[in-house]
Amino acid sequence: MSVDTLFERIEAAAQAVRARVGELPQTAVVLGSGLGDFADALPGGIVIPYSDLPHWPVSSVVGHAGKLVVATLHGRRIAVLAGRAHVYEGHDLDRVVFGARVMARLGVRELILTNAAGGINTGFASGALMVIDDHINLMGSNPLVGPNDERLGPRFPDMTEVYSTRLRKLAHNVATNSGIALARGVYAGLHGPSYETPAEIRFLRTVGADAVGMSTVPEAIAARHMGVEVLGISCITNMAAGVLPQPLVHAEVLETAQRVKGAFIGLLEGIIERL
Ligand code: HPA
Repeated sequence: MSVDTLFERIEAAAQAVRARVGELPQTAVVLGSGLGDFADALPGGIVIPYSDLPHWPVSSVVGHAGKLVVATLHGRRIAVLAGRAHVYEGHDLDRVVFGARVMARLGVRELILTNAAGGINTGFASGALMVIDDHINLMGSNPLVGPNDERLGPRFPDMTEVYSTRLRKLAHNVATNSGIALARGVYAGLHGPSYETPAEIRFLRTVGADAVGMSTVPEAIAARHMGVEVLGISCITNMAAGVLPQPLVHAEVLETAQRVKGAFIGLLEGIIERL
C-alpha cells in the first residue's frame, strides 16, 4: 500500500473543497480562540465540517469550532477556517499548518491569521487588537522540517517580511477610518499549553515580544513558504502572566474575545472590503 505524500494529502483536501464550493476563495481567514462568530455572520456561506475533508485535523479546544465556511463578502470570495489545530493538542506541525497549505493550494492570495494572545507590552490592555509586525518562533520546531517538496516552496524560504507591509498598512488604514484602536507589535509563538511564568514573560519582553500565544507562527511560515501574503491580527485577551496581580484562566480569554468581537469583526470586514 502506498502512503500519500504531503503534497498528495494537500491536493486531496483541496480537491474535496473544490468539489463543494463552486467559485474558489481568493482570501482565507483563520479564526482564533473565541473569535469564531465571524464565520456565523457570513450570509449564504457554504459550510464544510473539517471532518468531511480528508487528512484535515480537528481541534478539541473549547472556543474552536471545526468548520470551513466559503462565502462571498463585499464581492470577494473568502474561506473562513473556524477552528485550528494546535501543537499542544499533540498534532505535529505538518497537521497544524495543513489548513493553511490547502488554502494556498486552492490559490488564495492572502491569508489572514487571527489569534487570542497575552499582552506583554505594558502599554496594552486586555481587549486591545494588535497587528503582528513580526514574530519570534519559540515553538522549538518549524513546520518545514523534513524533506522539502519543491512543488510547495523552496528549501530555505526568506522570512524577512512574513507579515506583509501592504496588508499591515491596509489594516491600520481601515482601523483609522472606522475608529477602531489598533496596536502593532511582535508576537512570540510558544508551544503551550501551560501559560508562561512571570519570568518567561520578562524574558520575552527583553527579547522584543509585545504579545504571546500558542498559534499563528507555524501557519505564517507555511503560507510564506507557498508564496501567500500573510496578515496577523492578535486579540489581546488578557495581560500575560505576572503583568497584573492575578492568575490566568482560559475563561478570561473567551470572555474578552466575546467582548471585543464587534470591533474585531468590523476590522476584518473592512480589511476584506479593501483588499
Ligand atoms: N499566553 C499564551 N497564549 C495565550 C495567552 C497567554 O497569556 N492568552 C491567550 N493565548
